[in-house]
Amino acid sequence: MSILFSPIIINKLALKNRIVMAPMCILMSDNQGFVKEFHHIHYGARAIGQVGLIILEATSISPEGRITDADLGIWNDLHLEGLKELCDTIKKHGAKAGIQIAHAGRKSRIPNTAISCSNVVVDDRYSAPREMTLKDIATVQDQFISSVKRAIKAGFDVIELHAAHGYLINQFLSPITNHRKDDYGNSPENRARFLKEILARIREFYTGVLFIRISASDYKKEGLKVADYIKLFKEIDNVDFVDVSSGGIVDGLEIKAKAGYQVPFSKTLKKHLTIPVGAVGKINKAKQAENILQQNKADLIFVGRALNRNPNWAIQAAYDLKEEIDLPKAYKVSF
Ligand SMILES: Cc1cc2nc3c(=O)[nH]c(=O)nc-3n(C[C@H](O)[C@H](O)[C@H](O)COP(=O)(O)O)c2cc1C
Repeated sequence: MSILFSPIIINKLALKNRIVMAPMCILMSDNQGFVKEFHHIHYGARAIGQVGLIILEATSISPEGRITDADLGIWNDLHLEGLKELCDTIKKHGAKAGIQIAHAGRKSRIPNTAISCSNVVVDDRYSAPREMTLKDIATVQDQFISSVKRAIKAGFDVIELHAAHGYLINQFLSPITNHRKDDYGNSPENRARFLKEILARIREFYTGVLFIRISASDYKKEGLKVADYIKLFKEIDNVDFVDVSSGGIVDGLEIKAKAGYQVPFSKTLKKHLTIPVGAVGKINKAKQAENILQQNKADLIFVGRALNRNPNWAIQAAYDLKEEIDLPKAYKVSF
């Protein structure tokens, strides 16, 4: 049997295979962050397509934390009903459901509301962010906590904190974007404080599955590198899984994104950490995914654009690997 189609348990959660739909904004909400029919069809199709775990797109903890005004939101109890129904749709069709909890910080495209740890603008496509006061920091941390509580109420099996791609938590972590001189900046320990306080507070009420997505490299000499994250995760013992991406702190870099380009990062983290890790980025073929797992470079394979192109990517992968999987009744005849 392939590893790709073997089950795995992560903090009591059993996944039927190692295929994860990577969080991907689809910009199909209204300007209030509500779930629409398209979300049900889009995510439901990937559940029918036998993805083991589907992680919903970056879902914002506040209106100003959205990347765009078509992002999903989780800042209001009114969002709960739609999110619960969407979660149920995914689970009804045999996948586990996760949600990525996010705040865009200075990378928000909502005009004139952006906040960040420092007042450094990305470029002229964005509004200049207002530097967060200590009160703002406490407020945004509260928003993360309330949003996680809503995600639990909605029934998600996995909660993923978005600490990657140059969004707010990543902005605090990286010396490129964090120029603070107080307790939330000026040293690696202080830059990690914003994240660590959120994690500690989540663990006061949540024992379920907690993922974190990181950017293992800023691709800049003065930025964060995978070694910094090894150090960080030696101090963080309250997440269940690290989803290893890269980039996004500095826009417009020419990154050579060849097949599996981020796998070296997950491989390095896996070697140094005891918690499981995920690989993502141009992993488009079943054999490629299987090799990554066999070579112990990751525990789960996150698939993004290939799943947007083909909702049945996982079924095709099983076919390519000659795996007999439990297909939905509708497809049993045709395979
Ligand atoms: C349209 C699109 C939207 C994305 N939205 C998110 C997102 O909401 N959160 C996130 O962490 N990554 C996001 N990503 C990055 C993907 O999760 C993934 O890491 C990236 O596409 C590389 O994987 P792939 O080569 O399999 O597509 C997005 C990527 C695309 C193409």
